[in-house]
Amino acid sequence: MNKNIYILYISLTGNTKSFVHRLTAYLASHDVTVHAINVKETPDMQKLSQPFVTILPAFLDGGNGRVNGYHEILSPILSHWLGYAGNYQRCYGIIGSGNRNFNRQFALTAKQYAKRFGFPYLTDFELRGSQNDIERIASLLMEKAKEQN
Ligand SMILES: Cc1cc2nc3c(=O)[nH]c(=O)nc-3n(C[C@H](O)[C@H](O)[C@H](O)COP(=O)(O)O)c2cc1C
Repeated sequence: MNKNIYILYISLTGNTKSFVHRLTAYLASHDVTVHAINVKETPDMQKLSQPFVTILPAFLDGGNGRVNGYHEILSPILSHWLGYAGNYQRCYGIIGSGNRNFNRQFALTAKQYAKRFGFPYLTDFELRGSQNDIERIASLLMEKAKEQN
């Protein structure tokens, strides 16, 4: 089995960062190494040569996600990373996150990216994610890593 998992993500207020750190610790206990880039903390774009998963919280400009409120704010830097050096072609899927109080807009930006870049929308979690989310998403990513062999 491939013992490495590569993650590209953005975290502006720390929730996704906390999720990725806890996911990394959980996977380490299963002998899997996570290599994660938080684009907020990595100013220079890089070519990502290994297959990777993207994790993207939603930041939208208000509204209801249907007739309005579908315009991404604060996170477009992640789409620049995906466009850079054809990185999106090596992204095997995206995981959305957000806050369910946003109703229809919950995790909407990741759904928009899946359509726009043509990779699958794998699943989502809310805010920092529960322990159950960590275990569920760790299993999913270990399955995906197996498929790459
Ligand atoms: C300005 C702003 C807009 C947001 N818009 C949405 C939204 O449209 N849909 C959603 O599900 N969550 C929305 N959220 C909630 C964030 O996606 C959520 O808090 C997420 O966990 C933030 O991740 P981070 O702490 O890693 O940056 C918004 C948060 C902020 C601050």
